[in-house]
Amino acid sequence: MQIVITPDYDSLSARAADEIALVLRAKPDAVLVVPTGNTPLGMFHELARRAAEGEIRFARAHLVELDEYWSIPLTDERNLYRWLDEVFISRVGFAPERVIRFNSQADDPQVELRRVAQAAERFGGIDVQVLGLGFNGHIGFNEPGSPFDAPTQLIELTPESVASNARYWGSADKVPRKGMTLGFGTLGRARQTILLVSGEDKADILARVLREPITPAVPATWLRTLPHVIIIADDAAAGKLSPLV
Ligand code: GLP
Repeated sequence: MQIVITPDYDSLSARAADEIALVLRAKPDAVLVVPTGNTPLGMFHELARRAAEGEIRFARAHLVELDEYWSIPLTDERNLYRWLDEVFISRVGFAPERVIRFNSQADDPQVELRRVAQAAERFGGIDVQVLGLGFNGHIGFNEPGSPFDAPTQLIELTPESVASNARYWGSADKVPRKGMTLGFGTLGRARQTILLVSGEDKADILARVLREPITPAVPATWLRTLPHVIIIADDAAAGKLSPLV
């Protein structure tokens, strides 16, 4: 595991964009997974800038959605694919047929979960996944207790995650209570993993992820079982790591 500490959020975003650019240069049809949330917004902005300037191309790349609320239509502003499309997908020029999203209103969620997990495999497996970190250590919607071998899951959000997701929609009562997510079983086969962590309020959980025993109770400790992980944290998020790193 490599831990990169950047002076601030902008340099974290640029560094994350550099990693994606490297992968796309080596493999233009790479399979990518990216998170939603506030943390990756700077990276998306930077990738859009580089794509507009012709430095990188997404036309042949694949994207598989990491997580999605259950039962929220595309017309609803809380649909995470809709959000991702606005801030990233539509801005960098993915080919629509190479983007796989969860159908949040599928008749049978189990069939839908399998379809998305299998799509990642059908494209040749995930080349690089960028992940964010929840305050309770969740990754995607893999909440505490999520098995490390689940391929995909439909999961009940914990009260902590509902409270934290209220940041996006104004109040907790607007936060959907269930989410679909690629599980650790699928994510664990990715060729490279990048965790982005920004801000002082993530410093405690980042220190716990690196220090506590590897356990589903702190889902992101799962990262320590993977061979190729880069954690990119800004100085504020890394504030409680020393003397670890
Ligand atoms: C959300 C999402 C995750 C995201 C995490 C952190 O609940 N399901 O995919 O990575 O929480 O979000 P943020 O970057 O806004 O702190």
